[in-house]
Formats: sequence, structure tokens, C-alpha cells
Amino acid sequence: MAVSRHATITGVGSSLPPRLVPNTWFEAKIDTTDEWIRSRTGIEARHFADDGVVTSDLAVDAARIALRTAGVPAEQLDMIVCASVTGDTPFPATAVWVQEKLELSCPAFDVNAACAGFSYGLAAATAFVEAGMADTILLIGAEVFSRILDFTDRQTCVLFGDGAGATVIQANDRPGIEGTVLGADGTAAEILLVPAGGSREPASAQTVAASRHDIWMPNGREVFKRAVTEMAAACREVLEKNGHTPEDVDLLIPHQANARIMVAVAERLGIPLERAVVDVAEVGNTSAASIPIALDRAYRAGRMKEGDLVLFTSFGAGLTWGATAMRWTMPGVAA
Ligand code: ACO
Repeated sequence: MAVSRHATITGVGSSLPPRLVPNTWFEAKIDTTDEWIRSRTGIEARHFADDGVVTSDLAVDAARIALRTAGVPAEQLDMIVCASVTGDTPFPATAVWVQEKLELSCPAFDVNAACAGFSYGLAAATAFVEAGMADTILLIGAEVFSRILDFTDRQTCVLFGDGAGATVIQANDRPGIEGTVLGADGTAAEILLVPAGGSREPASAQTVAASRHDIWMPNGREVFKRAVTEMAAACREVLEKNGHTPEDVDLLIPHQANARIMVAVAERLGIPLERAVVDVAEVGNTSAASIPIALDRAYRAGRMKEGDLVLFTSFGAGLTWGATAMRWTMPGVAA
């Protein structure tokens, strides 16, 4: 569909809590080793928020940096969208807590698509701008995953970290965000979920004792396989729909779950690893925050310049996934 109004990213920012937890920290708690975690995931450390720090705190830190980078005063925001599955409260939305902390009065809502939340949020923000319903949107991915980890489950607790990434999405006279494709497969919902705390399994002493408010991933291998398949397919689809081939991609920014997943996606697409952002080593998997954190860090490292074709792709619980093609419209920074 041809659109006369376009949307682009005009500001980026990220926030990682200061406490860095190395893989060796887990060796005393569970049957694992630094070597196993590094070789299977590429993760060397992750940041965990201190007690009392909530998701909206990290989101607001990242948002302030993104707004400053865009040169946009917070009062100019027409909307706040926050992608998260570890919000401050089951409701209201974390975006509302962010709005309150920024002392604003614009509409605010959350997107729940787990690790694919940034892709879903980006599609929504783009559509709001293209439809003329908003000119300036703050899109955040923010997670405090450490609060829903079962530190006796070695399959999951070593994978995740806390953090937030933010982007400012604005109307633009030329295409920045060219398009997003999204996908979901609810038949595989049981392979990655937080089982309790909703209407299906309300909170009780038993659900707490059985760790059913924490993340469950009974089949990590299947998650791995589906992540590679769906992200590669979504990338091909969004590139083709917008008249590109993988050779045209200047920078691939995949969801930062596992270095092996990212390498496999790049290989399937035929994109050399030098043109992919693999930034999981000291960040871990920050779910919906992972793409905007990786984006901000790549931008500040001088990895993109104006006019570059940037490809985002994500995959998470649901199962859900997505891919976005965009022309980078911000001036690059010196590396
Ligand atoms: N330390 C040591 N051994 C471990 C650990 C650990 N932390 N975790 C699992 N193992 C063991 C297993 O118990 C198994 O032992 P066994 O052979 O005696 O049964 C062995 O290691 C191999 O287990 P696999 O699951 O086959 O290992 P695999 O190479 O597949 O790696 C991993 C596991 C890292 C979880 C991988 O499947 C993966 O990354 N999956 C994707 C999961 C993911 O990223 N989920 C996040 C949310 S979705 C997303 O963001 C994409």
C-alpha cells in the first residue's frame, strides 16, 4: 500500500542497570559453567536491576536519552508505546507509569509480544504516524526479567538480563521505516510462557511455591529452531516486499537472544557477520528491549550512516516474530 506520510526513527537511547552479573555467579547456584553458557549462547554477563528498581525506571532513563538525541522535548510526544512482559504492574500499562514519571498527559499503552514486542510496537507506531493520528511517538522496549527467573532452572536463568531501549518515531517527508511483517503461532504457546498469574492459573500459594510465575521453557531446542526459521523467513519477506535483497542490507539487527541463533539467521540470509549486530555478550537476552538496546549501542559505535538499509528482526514467546526494513535517516556518529 502506497503511503503519503512516512515514519522514521529520529532518536535512540538505552539504559542498562549498573550491576553486571558474570556467568561465574551462576556456578555457585546451579550445575553450570561459564564455558557452557559462553559456548551455547555467547553470553558472558548480564545486567540485573537492584531491588526497588522497576521497569519504568529503566524505560524513563532510556527515553530521556532518546528524546535528547532526537532534540525533541518530552511535551511534544503524542503517544507512548512500551513493549514489555515484565512491567511494573500487571495493570496499568508500564507506558502509563512512564508517562507519569515524564509528567505528560498523552495516550500511553503497552504491547505484549514478548521478545517480538519491539517489532509489534514499531509496526503500531509506524501505522499511527502514517495514518496521521500522531506525529511523534516514544517507543520503548523495557524489561526487568530477573524478577521472573527461576534461579534453580539452569535452562532459563542464565539467558536473560534487564534493560531498556527507546526510540523516537516521527513523521517524515521521505521513507525511513519502509515496512514491517509480523507473525504469530499460538499452537506453540506452551513451549515458552509464564504459566500462572492470569485467569488460567490465578496466583495462589501453590503457584508461587511451584515457581509458576517465572518463565518456563520446556523445549529450548524447538524455540531455537523456530527462532532461526521464522526470523530468516520474515527478513526475506520484508526485504522482498520493499524491493530489496539480502545483499542490499547494510546492518542486520536481530533480537539478541543467543549468538548462535543470530549467526544462523545471518548465514541463512547470506549476510556476512560483519554486517550484523551481535551484542549479547555483556547484555544477555533482554526480550522486548534487546533490539532498541542493540540499535542504540550500534548507533553510538558509529555502525550506521544516513541512507543505510537497516533490517530488524525478532522472535519470542507466543510464538511471535517480525522483521522491519528501514532506511536510516539520522546522521551517523563517528566511531
Ligand atoms: N548449564 C549446563 N548445562 C545445561 C544448561 C546450563 N545452564 N542448560 C541446559 N544444560 C544441559 C541440558 O540439561 C542438556 O543436558 P543433557 O544432555 O544431559 O540432557 C544439555 O545441556 C544440552 O541441552 P540442550 O537444550 O540440547 O542444549 P542446547 O545446545 O540446545 O542449548 C539453549 C540450550 C541455550 C537453551 C538453546 O536451546 C537455546 O538458546 N534455545 C533458545 C532459547 C531462547 O533463546 N529462549 C529465550 C526466549 S525466546 C527468544 O528470545 C528467541
